[in-house]
Amino acid sequence: MTANQCAQFQALLARRAQGEPIAYLTGRKEFWSLELQVTENTLIPRPETELLVEQAYARLPFDGKALVIDLGTGSGAIALAIAAECPQCRVLATDKSTAALKKVAQANAQCLGLHQVAFLLSDWWALGEIKATLVVSNPPYAAANAPHLSQGDVQYEPRSALVAGVDGLADIRQLIAQSVFHLVADGWLLLEHGYLQAEGVQALFEQYGCEDLQ
Ligand SMILES: C[S@@+](CC[C@H](N)C(=O)[O-])C[C@H]1O[C@@H](n2cnc3c(N)ncnc32)[C@H](O)[C@@H]1O
Repeated sequence: MTANQCAQFQALLARRAQGEPIAYLTGRKEFWSLELQVTENTLIPRPETELLVEQAYARLPFDGKALVIDLGTGSGAIALAIAAECPQCRVLATDKSTAALKKVAQANAQCLGLHQVAFLLSDWWALGEIKATLVVSNPPYAAANAPHLSQGDVQYEPRSALVAGVDGLADIRQLIAQSVFHLVADGWLLLEHGYLQAEGVQALFEQYGCEDLQ
């Protein structure tokens, strides 16, 4: 290494020693075999979120008319993975963070040549009259006082991508409550939630008249 490279490496090493996630040091993270750019304004996509992509793919009709919406797209991970798997689908990716949507998710779509993905800066369902075949979301679902927020990689990630009110269900509640207005008949809402939230999330789906809960 040159002296300059060595200095850069040492600086990265020092940041890593402080606990900064590797993905923020390299600016990259693999998701669904896609190489994605990430920044400190986006969640670092998790392998477990690939399950949402699998579940979405399994429910998509192949007639070329499906509209899939990814609410809270962050780096674009879910939307871009679905678009890569299902080129005939139209995909709309939204986020309320300009820094995530415009600087990262859109740039990732461009780099990957996934031009069928549209992007919209929006607060959850502020989408107008749109109805989708399938809505998918990995929303914030940590409780405000969750101890892991100050641990590991998570402490470096944006709070706005993680925390959802006192019980962690504030955003999921909103997503479920208004889904009926944005889904076609027999449409699906697929959500990631915390490992202790299954009962609470199921109760919300039931409260708002959703069927075929899985
Ligand atoms: C847990 S991150 C998920 C990011 C990405 N979908 C993934 O799985 O890696 C949640 C995302 O929701 C976005 N978000 C939070 N509140 C929102 C809101 N009210 N409307 C739209 N997006 C929101 C955050 O900016 C963040 O990008």
